[in-house]
Amino acid sequence: MKLWGGRFTKETDRLVNDFNASISFDRRFYRQDIRGSIAHVTMLAKQGILTEEEKEQIISGLESILADLDSGALAIDESCEDIHSFVEATLIERVGDAGKKLHTGRSRNDQVALDMKLYTRDEIGELSALLRKLLETILSIMKENTETYMPGFTHMQKAQPVTLAHHMGAYYEMFSRDRSRLADIARRMNTCPLGAGALAGTTYPLDRDDTARLLGFDGPALNSMDAVSDRDYLIELLGALSIVMMHLSRFSEEVIIWNSNEYQFVELDDAYSTGSSIMPQKKNPDIAELVRGKTGRVYGALMSLLTTMKGLPLAYNKDMQEDKELTFDAIDTAKGCITLFTGMLAAMKFQKERMRESAAKGFTNATDAADYLVNHGVPFRDAHAIVGQLVLFCIQRDMALEDMTLEEFQAISPVFQEDIYQAIDLKTCVEKRLTIGGPGKAAMEQVIARYERSLAEESGN
Ligand code: ARG
Repeated sequence: MKLWGGRFTKETDRLVNDFNASISFDRRFYRQDIRGSIAHVTMLAKQGILTEEEKEQIISGLESILADLDSGALAIDESCEDIHSFVEATLIERVGDAGKKLHTGRSRNDQVALDMKLYTRDEIGELSALLRKLLETILSIMKENTETYMPGFTHMQKAQPVTLAHHMGAYYEMFSRDRSRLADIARRMNTCPLGAGALAGTTYPLDRDDTARLLGFDGPALNSMDAVSDRDYLIELLGALSIVMMHLSRFSEEVIIWNSNEYQFVELDDAYSTGSSIMPQKKNPDIAELVRGKTGRVYGALMSLLTTMKGLPLAYNKDMQEDKELTFDAIDTAKGCITLFTGMLAAMKFQKERMRESAAKGFTNATDAADYLVNHGVPFRDAHAIVGQLVLFCIQRDMALEDMTLEEFQAISPVFQEDIYQAIDLKTCVEKRLTIGGPGKAAMEQVIARYERSLAEESGN
């Protein structure tokens, strides 16, 4: 059934029909569509626009459609233009004339704007729950590894020693910002389009506050033209998901590097890696690579929707139908990636001894040797130059700073004493870094306690 055949004398061309139809993808939000209709009809009856009896008939019809779609007893007829047409046609089939009043005071423009908001809001809740699981996984690794030393890098070169807890903590921060971005979007988008009509509101005495409240919105959207053509919140969501993916992709890149033969900082669980059809020795980090690869898809969705929207005059234009497949794909992709990445991380084994050995090599304690001199009155710039000479001395002999004899130290600077060995010990280098945000165990434990508290507070409300 078409919702608009009246003013037409010819059938729509079949190709035009297919090109125009959205049911193949908007069927995904039938639950939200029905939920919105129930709220709309409830309000119409309260306003005296429908009788109580009509309302009852329509709502029980809608509820039966919902139940049958959920159970599979009713199949969505893809010859309909969109999910709105399908639900309305099925309702009329089931309850007769009362069903024809469902669309009173409503347009598909405010209807689709509502459905998409309801759907997105639900999905934001799920995304946030998945990110929470990822945060919990990261936090449990942190708790176990406040003394697992590893090299920290800049420019992919060993820089200063850190701990695995500290390194993981960086990702904890990133993903918790991602979650708060999602929460911001959910808060900002939470106005109800219903009642905006096609673009200019309606002459029926609708109670827009009522439908907004019934559907859990903070209130009605205050401009009807904006209400039917606002897709900002989807662009924000795609932006936020792009950032989530960017973070997952950086993390994946590290997992891939850490899993490489050269590093061997981690060992991936068999369940999260794959083999090669030709090279029997291989165990590949495919999950991490796919997550890194799929990042491009989500960025693409963001660029695509920005581009779709940039030239649209007010108010509704059919171009906006393009928001759906992009957003659905980006949400599905991000959800899949967060889930798989979390599983991979939870099952991953850290080769703590390898990490420690790696931190002990590569002069990650050179800054601490310079700090030692500074503590003994040498200006930092001079100390930097002296330690530069020590490093050169060691490179030429393929040794570490702590392998030098005290005589060798003193030949370069007489300031060095026996306690230099203690000062440049890996553990000391890390444990002295106690300002909040640093890798020292005591500082790290304070941060971990804060993370635990904020996760616990959240589940309490
Ligand atoms: N399928 C349409 C969309 O996704 C629904 C709104 C149709 N409105 C219209 N005036 N044709 O945007």
